[in-house]
Amino acid sequence: MPKYVPEPFKIKVVEPLKMTTRAERERYLREAHYNLFSLRSDFVYIDMLSDSGSGAMSDSQWAGMMKGDESYAGSRGYYRLVDAVRDIFGYRYVQPVHQGRAAEKILYPCLLKEGQYSIANMHFDTTRGHVALCNATPKDMVVPVAKDTENYAPFKGNMDIPALRAFIESVGAEKVGVIIMTITNNTAGGQPVSMQNIRETAQVAREYDIPLVIDAARFAENAYFIKTREPGYADKSIIEITREAFSYATAFTMSAKKDGIVNIGGLIGIKDDEELFTQVQGMTVPYEGFITYGGLAGRDLEALAIGLYEGIELDYLRYRIGQVEYLGELLRQAGVPIQYPVGGHAIFVDAKKMLPHIPYYHFPGQALAIELYLEAGIRGCDVGSFMLDLDPVTGEQPESEMEFTRLCLPRRVYTQAHLDVVAEALINIQERAEQIKGYEIVWQPQVLRHFTAKLRPLE
Ligand SMILES: Cc1ncc(COP(=O)(O)O)c(C=O)c1O
Repeated sequence: MPKYVPEPFKIKVVEPLKMTTRAERERYLREAHYNLFSLRSDFVYIDMLSDSGSGAMSDSQWAGMMKGDESYAGSRGYYRLVDAVRDIFGYRYVQPVHQGRAAEKILYPCLLKEGQYSIANMHFDTTRGHVALCNATPKDMVVPVAKDTENYAPFKGNMDIPALRAFIESVGAEKVGVIIMTITNNTAGGQPVSMQNIRETAQVAREYDIPLVIDAARFAENAYFIKTREPGYADKSIIEITREAFSYATAFTMSAKKDGIVNIGGLIGIKDDEELFTQVQGMTVPYEGFITYGGLAGRDLEALAIGLYEGIELDYLRYRIGQVEYLGELLRQAGVPIQYPVGGHAIFVDAKKMLPHIPYYHFPGQALAIELYLEAGIRGCDVGSFMLDLDPVTGEQPESEMEFTRLCLPRRVYTQAHLDVVAEALINIQERAEQIKGYEIVWQPQVLRHFTAKLRPLE
């Protein structure tokens, strides 16, 4: 039995869950056109669709909500948040926004020109979408070991530095508008990026005079992995590691709904480039609202200022990563193929290995996610070919190199017993994996299709 790291908190408020029958779940799925994003959450027992905005706030955060200053301009919460960001990240300029993609929508048009490239260890799907909306092309350059889901490597989220250099040389530095470092690397399985890799990427960015932007959604989890895996960092605090990592970049975008432990919120941080900050403020007003609230209520600013500090507490991070490792170990011991080692926020089940009879264009990751819902009311999602939009030029279905079913762990929400239910359901499915069928799409939008596409099971 793997070891479970006990919770560094006790429970004060509970939210009842509805139990459903398999027949009910079959009906709910049909009505949702086999898109798990279209399911009502009331019909879900354990919701692992996302770790974004789904965490439980602390009593301090709720107290902060009550103290929220709802002044249109210059609210207390804004100044508190700016102080927190300056303290934790060491950046001078801070712009709150309502969530991560709002940060991307504002920052990337300031950095990317039409026809340029953005290069990332891996772009998250909203980042990819915003790069495309700038008429620029996103290029992923994660280290090849990221695709080896079976063997241990401490930092599978790293940028492939030789590939990065070679690409810049081949297209010319003026064609690369931005280099993006996503920490942790969500699309590669929540895998961490080492400090050394951040440093080396920054060195390349400096050499070619290209801005380096950190996608900071899970910065604290990444810092925890650096502390526990990278030589030289064991004695450093999470805040020291964070300050060093961010000192190498020009700016960051952040969905605060992850490591900020809030239900809504985002940030843009800029180290010292005043001109860029002025541009960002100029874009914020029409898109997000006045600069001191940036699309958020005053109470949200307070909750985020507090959550940022709770998210970097070592005991919390030990429990948080411990939960993911516990579930991962239960699955591995039963022979369920998962991305190994587990990342910081989710288990990525290797659906390509579990369902080898389903080709990428019938979406093995989605098929497994649907089966898990049918089995036990657990909701996960595809991170594979279903998540990739059709090629805008050829209209063809791209093939993802990895076909995952992602099971996210909301922060401070589920217990050890819930995780045991998840493991048992997956182990049951594994025993009848060859009977599971693929899906086809019957309707899809042009961009970010996986949120709203409609599917049907193959006969
Ligand atoms: C790495 C990463 N970047 C950006 C985003 C977008 O953030 P949001 O959902 O707050 O718009 C996400 C959300 O999951 C993410 O994981």
